[in-house]
Amino acid sequence: MDLDRYLEEKCALVNRALKNLLGSSDTYPSVLHQAAHYSLFAGGKRIRPALVLAAAEAVSEGVDTAVLNAACAVECIHTYSLIHDDLPALDNDDLRRGLPTCHKKYGDAMAILAGDSLLTSAFELLGRTQGVDNALIVQAVIELSSAAGAAGMIGGQVVDIESEGTEIAFPVLEYIHIHKTGKLILASVRCGAILSGAKEAELKSLSRYGEAIGLAFQIADDLLDVEGTDEELGKKAGMDELRGKATYPALLGIAESRRRAADLVDVAIEALNGFGPQADPLRSIAQRIVSRRS
Ligand code: IPE
Ligand code: IPE
Ligand code: MG
Ligand code: MG
Ligand code: MG
Repeated sequence: MDLDRYLEEKCALVNRALKNLLGSSDTYPSVLHQAAHYSLFAGGKRIRPALVLAAAEAVSEGVDTAVLNAACAVECIHTYSLIHDDLPALDNDDLRRGLPTCHKKYGDAMAILAGDSLLTSAFELLGRTQGVDNALIVQAVIELSSAAGAAGMIGGQVVDIESEGTEIAFPVLEYIHIHKTGKLILASVRCGAILSGAKEAELKSLSRYGEAIGLAFQIADDLLDVEGTDEELGKKAGMDELRGKATYPALLGIAESRRRAADLVDVAIEALNGFGPQADPLRSIAQRIVSRRS
């Protein structure tokens, strides 16, 4: 399948929906909306929303509004996490998605508030979704909130920050990566499937897929920080080593990190064995997660 074309289409679909759902950047107080729009539309890959849509397609035909809203909600949560991750108190980065980071452009206070606002909008958006069984919406809200919260991304971010400049054991590194990045990716896959009425067995296989690619995604991110350029990444390369971050390459070396990422892709693709060609986008995305250059 033509994955570039698939991702381009999904990206355009999600960007259109986000623009409709979030409203104009002129809304008062405009500085807040401008800061949120600035980061949201700076040109992310939209891998997580594509996963929501691809997981939905794997279990049912067509994608309804609920799934599209969930895809947008996930991207709002992800963009918020990037804005806050870049703040001076966290990773202190100046470049994101090829532009100065939100706090460099709008100041720390507005970046914090724009992040807060995107996180909150995600759940408003999901809550307002109509045309699907409310029980499914509640389930999606629980999936996303737990993946983004203390038991998920925030927990991972806390241990990431606490581990800077220290020597950590492998299980701690694994905890960081599974939580700070893996959980939201897993939740993206699960939400798409849940809102499309996935059966228990399908959800189980897709969860195995989501767990594997979630961890692989952060291993690839670590590798790109070592091997990529600022231009390719749209963010400053080489910062992890400078900050003494807990990463796969730092703990296991480049070759072993690459091997583990590739093994996880195999696990992910094997988990989809029960699915036919309708899961091809998920298969291709798994491969892309480790072969990507940005
Ligand atoms: C970067 O995510 C942050 C991580 C969790 C590793 P992406 O690589 O998906 O960033 P965008 O959305 O394309 O900017
Ligand atoms: C980010 O991990 C995880 C998030 C929850 C945002 P990184 O700190 O490695 O992400 P980048 O490299 O800044 O995109
Ligand atoms: Mg970070
Ligand atoms: Mg960072
Ligand atoms: Mg990184």
